[in-house]
Amino acid sequence: MLKKIPEQIKRVSFLIAIILGGVLAARYFILPSSLVDTRFHRDSTVQREVARNVAFAGTTACGTCHADQITKKSKGYHKTVSCETCHGAARVHTEDPSQKPTAPKGREFCVFCHAYDHSRPTGFPQINPVVHNPLKSCTTCHNPHDPVPPETPRECSACHAQIASIKTASPHALIGCTTCHTVPAKHKISPRSVTPTKPETREFCGGCHAKEAPRQDAPKIDLSTHGERFLCWECHYPHLPERTASR
Ligand code: HEC
Ligand code: HEC
Ligand code: HEC
Ligand code: HEC
Ligand code: HEC
Ligand code: HEC
Ligand code: HEC
Ligand code: HEC
Repeated sequence: MLKKIPEQIKRVSFLIAIILGGVLAARYFILPSSLVDTRFHRDSTVQREVARNVAFAGTTACGTCHADQITKKSKGYHKTVSCETCHGAARVHTEDPSQKPTAPKGREFCVFCHAYDHSRPTGFPQINPVVHNPLKSCTTCHNPHDPVPPETPRECSACHAQIASIKTASPHALIGCTTCHTVPAKHKISPRSVTPTKPETREFCGGCHAKEAPRQDAPKIDLSTHGERFLCWECHYPHLPERTASR
């Protein structure tokens, strides 16, 4: 019976038996039990994490002793930035106040979030650290717990840096932001509470681009047919209206 089995099958079976034996031996005798644990979170990992020192205390913990800073911050621009984002993990300090956390006074610290960066969302306050009141510490003019600028920002680019820089290189470069947006003064102080208007009709753009519009330097279209019934900005980005191939 055994003789009928071809030689190569015997060899392969022998090899498979060795490998299988090896795997089983490794599984039950060689590998530490933590490595063959098949639960979603291995026991040993859970134990290791639980045993760690908790480094952060959380903003509520600071309130017991620093109510002033909490109140100030909760009303200001930095309400969404937690205490320990700036002061570092401070649990040790909450248990023993003599071990003081760091207070980041250097310019580099604030610049980490506020330096101009093209990829930051529109409306996020950004400065150019090289020209924005250089050399002085940011906290001489801005209270870190309620960083209202000491005077109202002058330029829209202070917070809409990306749109402003896109527009600079566009056919609309010389058209001021307020030609198309009516901006209440309070928008620059409390931007989310009062928002500027945005153009709403085709006629608005037609004011410069319609055939009968007086402005000479603006290329003309037939307002009644061009782009059918769609709003102009469904096809042209108003801050960078693309030039046509023919021009
Ligand atoms: C049990 C009370 C207590 C708690 C809770 C507490 N602090 Fe303090 N903190 C103090 C005391 C006391 C001082 C020292 C004040 C002094 O010497 O002027 C201090 C000082 C500080 C300072 C100033 C350090 C410096 O260089 O002058 C910072 C920053 C600070 N705490 C941050 C925090 C943060 C963040 C939390 C929450 C995670 C927190 N504290 C929670 C009691 C507390
Ligand atoms: C945006 C970063 C930032 C955040 C958020 C922040 N702090 Fe500060 N904090 C600072 C800086 C910078 C200083 C140092 C100011 C100085 O000395 O000019 C400071 C100083 C302090 C001081 C020393 C006394 C004072 O008022 O100057 C305490 C206490 C303190 N912070 C507690 C807190 C607590 C509590 C919170 C959370 C409610 C918090 N901070 C949130 C940046 C921050
Ligand atoms: C972890 C990121 C972070 C750090 C660090 C940080 N900020 Fe801010 N800052 C913010 C956020 C978020 C806002 C609110 C933006 C908003 O409302 O859209 C803000 C708003 C501001 C504004 C309001 C500007 C305006 O007119 O709208 C000023 C000024 C400011 N921060 C200054 C500072 C200063 C000074 C420091 C350093 C002590 C600092 N920030 C550190 C995140 C940060
Ligand atoms: C000499 C005082 C002074 C210093 C120092 C200073 N700022 Fe300002 N900051 C101002 C004034 C005034 C404004 C509002 C007018 C303007 O836009 O320039 C302002 C506005 C801002 C704004 C709102 C956007 C804007 O440009 O209007 C941010 C964000 C800001 N500062 C962050 C910082 C940071 C971060 C530092 C440190 C690297 C810093 N400031 C240092 C005075 C100062
Ligand atoms: C202090 C910072 C700041 C300044 C200065 C500022 N803005 Fe804004 N702006 C914002 C923020 C924040 C938003 C809300 C962004 C969001 O919700 O995504 C916003 C929204 C807008 C919107 C959109 C409104 C909507 O309904 O979608 C327009 C338009 C606008 N700003 C135009 C301007 C113009 C024009 C200027 C200059 C005259 C200006 N802003 C100056 C911060 C500012
Ligand atoms: C030629 C007219 C025109 C000019 C000039 C213009 N905008 Fe706009 N803007 C619009 C229109 C139209 C929309 C609405 C677009 C939409 O809804 O898709 C808009 C939308 C916006 C929005 C909200 C949507 C977005 O793109 O984030 C902001 C913020 C904004 N503009 C800021 C500015 C600022 C800042 C300037 C000056 C640097 C400026 N705009 C100049 C026409 C203009
Ligand atoms: C359905 C998409 C669409 C809509 C909506 C639309 N356009 Fe256009 N627009 C185009 C295309 C595609 C071109 C380039 C081909 C052409 O010249 O017809 C163009 C070209 C233009 C030109 C350049 C003409 C020239 O001779 O150089 C202007 C100016 C213009 N559009 C303004 C507008 C205005 C203003 C509105 C709103 C009243 C608008 N567009 C709506 C798609 C559109
Ligand atoms: C205040 C007048 C004015 C308003 C309002 C205006 N534009 Fe323009 N637009 C111009 C001028 C001027 C140019 C040409 C600049 C140049 O070629 O140097 C231009 C260029 C363009 C171009 C590029 C055409 C080409 O062939 O290069 C398009 C597309 C355009 N605008 C679309 C719009 C849309 C969409 C709106 C409404 C959101 C709008 N414009 C509102 C004045 C205006």
